[in-house]
Parts: sequence; structure tokens; C-alpha cells
Amino acid sequence: MKQALDVRVLTLFPGMFETLTGHSIVKRAIEKGALTVRAHDLREYTHDRHRTADDRPFGGGPGMLMKPEPIFEAMDDLMPGFRKTKTRRFVYLTPQGEPYTQRKAEELAQCRQIVLLCGHYEGVDQRAVDRYATDEISIGDYVLTGGELPAMVLIDSVARLLPGTLGCAQSKEFESFSGDLLEYPQYTRPAEYRGLKVPPVLLSGNHQAIEAWRRQQSLERTRTRRPDLLAKAPDRGVKAKRGKEKGTCIRCSESSKKNK
Ligand SMILES: C[S@@+](CC[C@H](N)C(=O)[O-])C[C@H]1O[C@@H](n2cnc3c(N)ncnc32)[C@H](O)[C@@H]1O
Repeated sequence: MKQALDVRVLTLFPGMFETLTGHSIVKRAIEKGALTVRAHDLREYTHDRHRTADDRPFGGGPGMLMKPEPIFEAMDDLMPGFRKTKTRRFVYLTPQGEPYTQRKAEELAQCRQIVLLCGHYEGVDQRAVDRYATDEISIGDYVLTGGELPAMVLIDSVARLLPGTLGCAQSKEFESFSGDLLEYPQYTRPAEYRGLKVPPVLLSGNHQAIEAWRRQQSLERTRTRRPDLLAKAPDRGVKAKRGKEKGTCIRCSESSKKNK
């Protein structure tokens, strides 16, 4: 089996990560040996009675900044001689970073080690970012109080791409964004509920017709909800979506048995 992806989080709130690592797919990835997640408390690397990790910005201005020393000392202690490489990343989560996408998640899922730096207050002393960061990532054009939730978004999205993590190996290849199209609408049993019926084509058993319907629905959804995706790659999405119905999908067949 491939070596586990080693994720280290530098944070003032390590306890927040227990929820993530103790549930669902991330928990399963850890149990299967595909992922390790360790949250390191930056206050362990402070030296005063109050465990101070922040200070006022030089030049004035509102709020406080995370001091550089705890970050440098944590790196010296936890990852001495850290070198930036293609498979060894240091990500600073920041609203000023590159917008996070499925492509970026796929890229990060190829790494051996990812260090995630969670900012707080007004952010982090720039020297720590300059020294260590290989990537600066934003999860959206809004400002959160800290980098912990963005770090969890990143871990969750990467964990589900690791080999052996999802029950259905196909599902990650054919869902929204994987082929530049949004996924089509889906239905499960019962075929009719409170007068609401599942589209008849899905009950037809005609796989070609189902595939054509799904492709058309995917295109229509993408056109109305995210036309920017079609503008970026007008052909790729359609090609990438083909073949969803081919082959055996373990998770789907398991769940359809359950639903019988
Ligand atoms: C209040 S924010 C600081 C914002 C900073 N003063 C600025 O204007 O860019 C505190 C921390 O939350 C995290 N953060 C907030 N919003 C984020 C976002 N959209 N994506 C990633 N990280 C974010 C970052 O780690 C940031 O250092």
C-alpha cells in the first residue's frame, strides 16, 4: 500500500480537529492507513507565563498578528530541516490565497506530507509565510476568524481522494467538478413518494438512455448554475462524464441491495 499522507496542522486550537478525525470518511482514511493527521498546538512553542502567540503589528493598525517565533520553533522541533518539494508542501490558509478547487485537492492528494498553517487574529507575521509556504490557499471570498475550518475543508477534500478511502472508487471520478460539469440529479427508492415520481427513464433499465439523460441533465445544470465552468472547457466535461454507467460500482450495488 502507498505510504500514508502525513498531514500536520499548526494551530492555536488543536482540539477543533478531533471532530474531523473522529468521523466519517476522514476517520476511515486514518483507520485504513491512508492518512495521518496531527494537530500541533503553537502555544507549546511560546515561552511566557501567558503563552502569548500574538502581538501588535509594526506600523500600527487594528488587531493582533501571530508571532513568528512559535511557528519557526514548531517547525524546528517537528520537521527539522524542512525542505519544500513537490510532494512536501506547506500551506498557509489565507483569504488572500489561490482559490481552492477540486484540481488543487487532486494535486495535494499526490503529496507525501502537507503542513497546514492556520492563521488567527489579523493573520500571521509575513516572515513565517515567506520562509515556509509553498502554497497559499483561500477557500472562498469571505473572511473567517481562523484557518482551522479552511484546513479541515482541505483535509476532508483530500482524504476522500486517497486510495481505498471511498467505498466506491468510481464516485470520485464522476461527480461535480471532476469533469468540469456538475453532477446530474439523483434519486433512490421509493420510486414514488407523496406523489413525487422519479424520472421514468431511470427505471427503464436502458443504460444508454440513462447515460444520455444524465449527460443532458449535467449540461443543463452546469449551463444554468455554473456557466463559467462550460466557458472554461466546453468539451472536456462531456467527455469525462461518459462511462459512468459502465463497470461495477461496489458502493452503489451495496446500497441498492440495502434498499431492496
Ligand atoms: C481574520 S483572518 C485574517 C484576514 C487578514 N487580515 C486579511 O485581510 O487577509 C484570520 C485567519 O483566518 C484564516 N482565514 C480567514 N478566511 C479565510 C479564507 N477565506 N480562506 C482561508 N483562510 C482563511 C487565515 O488563516 C487568516 O490568517
